[in-house]
Amino acid sequence: MLNNLPFFPPQASTSAAQVDALYFYLIGISGLMSLLIAGLLIGFAVRYRRRSRASRAGAVDGSMKLELIWTIIPFFVAMSIFVWGAGVFFHLSRPPDDAMNILVVGKRWMWKLQHLNGRREINELHVPLGRAVRLTMTSEDVIHSFYVPAFRVKADVLPGRYTSLWFEPTRPGRYHLFCAEYCGTRHSGMVGWVVVMQPEEFQTWLGGDARDVAPARAGERLFTNLGCATCHNPGSGARGPSLQGVFGSTIALKGGARASADESYLRESILDPQAKLVDGYEALMPTFRGLVGEEGLMQIIEYLKTLEPAAAQPGGTPQS
Ligand code: CUA
Repeated sequence: MLNNLPFFPPQASTSAAQVDALYFYLIGISGLMSLLIAGLLIGFAVRYRRRSRASRAGAVDGSMKLELIWTIIPFFVAMSIFVWGAGVFFHLSRPPDDAMNILVVGKRWMWKLQHLNGRREINELHVPLGRAVRLTMTSEDVIHSFYVPAFRVKADVLPGRYTSLWFEPTRPGRYHLFCAEYCGTRHSGMVGWVVVMQPEEFQTWLGGDARDVAPARAGERLFTNLGCATCHNPGSGARGPSLQGVFGSTIALKGGARASADESYLRESILDPQAKLVDGYEALMPTFRGLVGEEGLMQIIEYLKTLEPAAAQPGGTPQS
């Protein structure tokens, strides 16, 4: 039904209906409140206007009962918005384990995307119908924001860290992709399309021409060229911790703290190795800032994800 409203984008993801329902609930409450307040205001203004003969007897100067009513009812209304909103927020911030990962780098003024088999795209994103997709995003310069109205998803894309966003398309078609954060002169031109295809069509497209090296392979190459393996070798007595199975593990840090080895942790450890030093190792590693760019970092991390021990963990395995 909503798809026919001219001022609403189509609902093209599994989350769209949830977001819209909450949105209409908020509109409904705002509308009712406005009507109630405006209605009472106008009603009383007319009834008690100076020349009216309506009785002023029995005017109340303070009523505990009234105070309680108009405190408790709005409290529950506000809490319903909070609880419902938090539910939708948690849903939107937890991608399913089997989501397909895609790398996104924002840059003035374009979106650079790469699939895990190596296929690259600029300002276009092809995805299969009915499959959860997770975007791992960062920026090379300023803050951008990845926004697909038809999916009802939006997330800031920040320099210096990873953010992510997920969706599961439910309708084939072409949908607008916007940058929703003012990022300079050509911000308004930082737009593109998300193309939702039938799964078989998508597989054909994905395996199609101009395929680049898979990020995990490119990362392996960087890992070798930068000499990472000199210290990070699985042998005993190595100067750096073994990276076998590091992704997704919990790391014991010097000083007793713990860190979860997610994408952000790995990125930080490459650029600022001393920030979270692994317990039992010396602060020997130099920074690789300037030697490897954002795309290179993502590639190295994709490679590290493939270094899993025998018991494989779900999600994020490249199909190269
Ligand atoms: Cu990028 Cu606005």
